[in-house]
Amino acid sequence: MKGIILAGGEGNRLKPLTEYTNKHLLHIYNQPMVYYPLNTLTNAGIREILIVTGPKHAGTFLQLLGDGRRFKCNLQFRVQEKAEGIAHALSLSKKFVGNDSCAVILGDNIFEDDLTKEIKAFTGSGAHIFLKETESPQRFGVAELKGKNVVKIEEKPKNPKSNYAVTGLYLFDPNVFEIINGLRPSNRGEYEITDVNNEYIKRGQLTATLLKKRWTDSGTFESLYRANHIAREIHLRKNYGARAHSKISDTKKDPALEFMTKTQLQNLET
Ligand code: DAU
Repeated sequence: MKGIILAGGEGNRLKPLTEYTNKHLLHIYNQPMVYYPLNTLTNAGIREILIVTGPKHAGTFLQLLGDGRRFKCNLQFRVQEKAEGIAHALSLSKKFVGNDSCAVILGDNIFEDDLTKEIKAFTGSGAHIFLKETESPQRFGVAELKGKNVVKIEEKPKNPKSNYAVTGLYLFDPNVFEIINGLRPSNRGEYEITDVNNEYIKRGQLTATLLKKRWTDSGTFESLYRANHIAREIHLRKNYGARAHSKISDTKKDPALEFMTKTQLQNLET
């Protein structure tokens, strides 16, 4: 299976930060944003990865990530000259994917779940998506469900049919490129990934998994803030969780823990 990280777009909702850099190079706690989707793919054993980015800061991606060996993968890059939508950005990976299946991840999506099992279980035919309950479905693609089946997806609906957001990780068979070829731009002038997924639903070939842990995008100031919060908690728990209590007397010496109260440290252990 090939991996694709979509890191183009204008990042308009994060201006002025995105005046001087690409959104996916901004930091989320202690790492550049693009590390998170990259880790989601490499943790699942994907070794061939293409990054699609915009023309303005493509060189910085190369400088940061190189050929991928530091991340135990092979990286290639493609430039999307104009932000014509997620499906358009994906279409640029047709040659790279060839007859393989692909895991496509949006460069601003942070997943707490380890999705290795689901990615490895993908049989390589049809499409698979990941849903997460949200308080603000109007901001996302929203799944209409009948029982456990997704019967339709609406992009940023005013009156959402459920609270289940379609997150930015998609598993596709190679037919995805033929489907993108048949798309027309939406009202906002973009080739929509939601239209691709709806075509798979029409063909009776779309399945979905409900995420258990936290997920967020980071394309607005509020979601960027939340992403930092989640990433910090994951990092501290992973690195200090079991040892936090014994470190209490030592916190002044450890820059990662210096601002934490005794109660906060104890909470890390649970
Ligand atoms: O985060 C999940 C949501 O992402 C889904 O629920 C929606 O169905 C999906 O349309 C998308 O919605 P957004 O409006 O949040 O997408 P945004 O325009 O922020 O683009 C998300 C990522 O896709 C962005 O970080 C980079 C990539 N992208 C986007 C566009 C428009 C590209 O690579 N090229 C593009 O032209």
